[in-house]
Amino acid sequence: MNIGFKFLRLFLLCVLSPAFSFAIKFPPNFPSSLIRPEKLSLLSSTTQNKLYTESYFAQTLDHFNFYPKSYQTFQQRYLVNDTFWGGAANKSPIFVYTGNEGDIEWFTQNTGFLFEIAPHFKALLVFLEHRFYGKSVPFGGNKDVAYNNTNTLGYLSSTQALADYATLLVDLKKNLSAADSPVVVFGGSYGGTYLENWLSTAYIYTSMTDYPTPSNFLNPLPAYPVKQMCKAIDNPTTGNDTFAKLYGAANVYYNYSGTAKCFNLSDDSDPHGLSGWGWQACTEMILPTGGNTKESIFPASEWHYSDRVSYCKLMYGIEPRRTWITTEFGGFGIERVLKRFGSNIIFFNGLRDPWSGGGVLKNISRSIIAIVAKEGAHHVDLRFSTKEDPEWLKEVRKQEINIIGGWISQYYHDLAHLSP
Ligand SMILES: *[C@@H]1O[C@H](CO)[C@@H](O)[C@H](O)[C@H]1NC(C)=O
Ligand SMILES: *[C@@H]1O[C@H](CO)[C@@H](O)[C@H](O)[C@H]1NC(C)=O
Ligand SMILES: *[C@@H]1O[C@H](CO)[C@@H](O)[C@H](O)[C@H]1NC(C)=O
Ligand SMILES: *[C@@H]1O[C@H](CO)[C@@H](O)[C@H](O)[C@H]1NC(C)=O
Ligand SMILES: *[C@@H]1O[C@H](CO)[C@@H](O)[C@H](O)[C@H]1NC(C)=O
Ligand SMILES: *[C@@H]1O[C@H](CO)[C@@H](O)[C@H](O)[C@H]1NC(C)=O
Ligand SMILES: *[C@@H]1O[C@H](CO)[C@@H](O)[C@H](O)[C@H]1NC(C)=O
Repeated sequence: MNIGFKFLRLFLLCVLSPAFSFAIKFPPNFPSSLIRPEKLSLLSSTTQNKLYTESYFAQTLDHFNFYPKSYQTFQQRYLVNDTFWGGAANKSPIFVYTGNEGDIEWFTQNTGFLFEIAPHFKALLVFLEHRFYGKSVPFGGNKDVAYNNTNTLGYLSSTQALADYATLLVDLKKNLSAADSPVVVFGGSYGGTYLENWLSTAYIYTSMTDYPTPSNFLNPLPAYPVKQMCKAIDNPTTGNDTFAKLYGAANVYYNYSGTAKCFNLSDDSDPHGLSGWGWQACTEMILPTGGNTKESIFPASEWHYSDRVSYCKLMYGIEPRRTWITTEFGGFGIERVLKRFGSNIIFFNGLRDPWSGGGVLKNISRSIIAIVAKEGAHHVDLRFSTKEDPEWLKEVRKQEINIIGGWISQYYHDLAHLSP
């Protein structure tokens, strides 16, 4: 399913602009209700130290019909860093991060890689915010109105968001007189889980972010936090007290700083503005997730579509379109499908990330490349590099840069030799 977005994105960009694109796969994202309030300070600390300028674009509310109401516009936010750009005259590339289901400023935190490689490629960096999230909220920017009911939420869909991205990029390239600049797209997959449990949140997010160096994406964590959790579980002072062991492990995730006085298990604040995901999960994004092995520390859980239907009826008074997303994007049998009409995509997966189970782990064609890192975690390749990075991670990044470089050269070659 994630793949489908790449298809369309690729397709839109290829059709609408003389550019190619590729994407590095982001595994699915986080359910809003599980993000901890500590993140508030994290968010404000990054906004103080801005690495981009913020702009707004008058975006069309509904790209897919011609009713008068469709022509309403809203302000879509995008962030630009032009410090490294070689300029339109040199046809220097544009690196685009397509926003996920949350505040775009928050996502820029985990995309240090783009800032690091921009000088090498003389690239313009552009971060596009997804409609209904962050500051890109239709209906006057008022979330209460935009999220009120299906009359307004109906405009929150992946196809609308992709059309937003394509429309904005075409206009931006026009404004920059950069029609010939190649566009390289990063990130941007969707997803979610529906775990409600405070403990499993800690275990799952820690394994997702089992990075080789200390990190601060979801929560502040030490290097290789899973190892720290295991240590906490093995701590002899907890004897045979299973709960004390589990609590110790959860403390690694919730209280690495050691400053937490107590934990609020019913806290449902949403500092990153991820709340629109519930709607998306009830319309298009039907991602079956579950765990049912006896060996796992999680209770066995089975996924039932009927549970989702009941939830969605209750919450929004709607029933999901269960197979729409694969009908629209052709996500079924990706190996066969991708090979036929996709190109220039890198799928990175770290096998320590539980989401890698749903990832593309095999090379599909010469330019649809799977990079699989046994010790890798959730999009670790996109993070800022550090001195402590292990060799395998340096290699992954080097390989990605080489592949991107090769594609850009190919693009310039085609531009010079193929007439439009
Ligand atoms: C772009 O990012 C670099 C850091 O990589 C920063 O030094 C520079 O000030 C940023 N430029 C803008 C225009 O924000
Ligand atoms: C939400 O919708 C209801 C029913 O249409 C309407 O009465 C109410 O004013 C709306 N609230 C907002 C904040 O738009
Ligand atoms: C392009 O320029 C026009 C005219 O100044 C402006 O209205 C529009 O927002 C710009 N497009 C983008 C993507 O910034
Ligand atoms: C833990 O349980 C095992 C088996 O039930 C027992 O032999 C051992 O003495 C217990 N250890 C402690 C520290 O209570
Ligand atoms: C957080 O960690 C500190 C230091 O280990 C500990 O004293 C404190 O009790 C922990 N907080 C909670 C809520 O467990
Ligand atoms: C816990 O979170 C809930 C929901 O956000 C809030 O209403 C409640 O006041 C919080 N409790 C404490 C002790 O902070
Ligand atoms: C895919 O091909 C690349 C070389 O282009 C190779 O480095 C990589 O290991 C391959 N991926 C897998 C999963 O075999």
